[in-house]
Amino acid sequence: MSPRSEFEHEPVMAGPTLDALEDMPAGVFVDATLGGAGHTTAVLDRRSDVHVHGFDQDPEAIAVATERLAAYGDRARVHYARFDDAATVLADHGVDQICGFLMDLGVSSPQLDWADRGFSYQHDGPLDMRMDTEHHRSAADVVNNYSVDEIIDVLRSYGDERNAVRIAKAIDANRPIATTGELATIITEAVPAAVRRQPGHAAKKSFQAIRIEVNDELAILGPALDALISLLGPGGIGLVLTYHSGEDRIVKNCMRTAVEADDLPGMPSRSDYEWLFRGARTPSADEVERNSRSKSARLRGIRRKVAA
Ligand SMILES: C[S@@+](CC[C@H](N)C(=O)[O-])C[C@H]1O[C@@H](n2cnc3c(N)ncnc32)[C@H](O)[C@@H]1O
Repeated sequence: MSPRSEFEHEPVMAGPTLDALEDMPAGVFVDATLGGAGHTTAVLDRRSDVHVHGFDQDPEAIAVATERLAAYGDRARVHYARFDDAATVLADHGVDQICGFLMDLGVSSPQLDWADRGFSYQHDGPLDMRMDTEHHRSAADVVNNYSVDEIIDVLRSYGDERNAVRIAKAIDANRPIATTGELATIITEAVPAAVRRQPGHAAKKSFQAIRIEVNDELAILGPALDALISLLGPGGIGLVLTYHSGEDRIVKNCMRTAVEADDLPGMPSRSDYEWLFRGARTPSADEVERNSRSKSARLRGIRRKVAA
């Protein structure tokens, strides 16, 4: 696939991400969510002692990242794979230890903005939402084939949607639904008028929930993060950028489990891992002003102790 020239994605919290990697040792760095390779090029430019293995499940991202990283030669390897396969792919390339990783979760700007990718409630397109366009299940499959109860569950679990029952019944009454525009209209008409008057699009939470279901986003996150944490070598740093509370909860719990492993109450930590910094870092007001998509970002970090 040749890359579309207009692939534009501003890397979120690029400065704080690079700062957090300041003390990372040399070695192999994993970018689990390459996108347009914005974070990866920043890491490669800052750290000449680092090689990157980058992963993405979106063929369009792979095409653009491959082109943008060509100038770095064998310092950058690009893999068309889901990040829960990263450990296997790395092992195939003889890598069993890494100096750091970044997961920048969620969707890229082109995925949201290009109508033909079918993620957008603002631009009409086919009801698709697959990051991996070879993936078997699209948003149309979820919307048209799931039972009403299954749709309610998706909307509540992944979108915290209070009007899940009304929306699911409206979807059921209007099936089959073919486009994002049709779905956005059905949802907007299903919610109470008071919700329609609130700021933000009435379909935003439902679209997020369906996208998460289509791409198995939350189901694979915990195991994939655990696997990357276990690959960190001494002093290695793991960073994750999340964009909604469901993702952030999983990331916090995985990291806490690693940091508190084997601890006994009142005794010094026996874990191999420590928090890189406490809590989550958030973007500056300037960044949110410049790039509204950074607004909900939360950065968390973990480090493997040097002398474990
Ligand atoms: C927010 S964008 C990353 C942007 C990137 N950091 C940059 O600076 O250009 C998230 C990317 O992760 C990819 N992605 C999401 N879930 C994935 C998964 N499970 N495995 C591999 N890639 C995934 C998406 O296709 C998307 O390209």
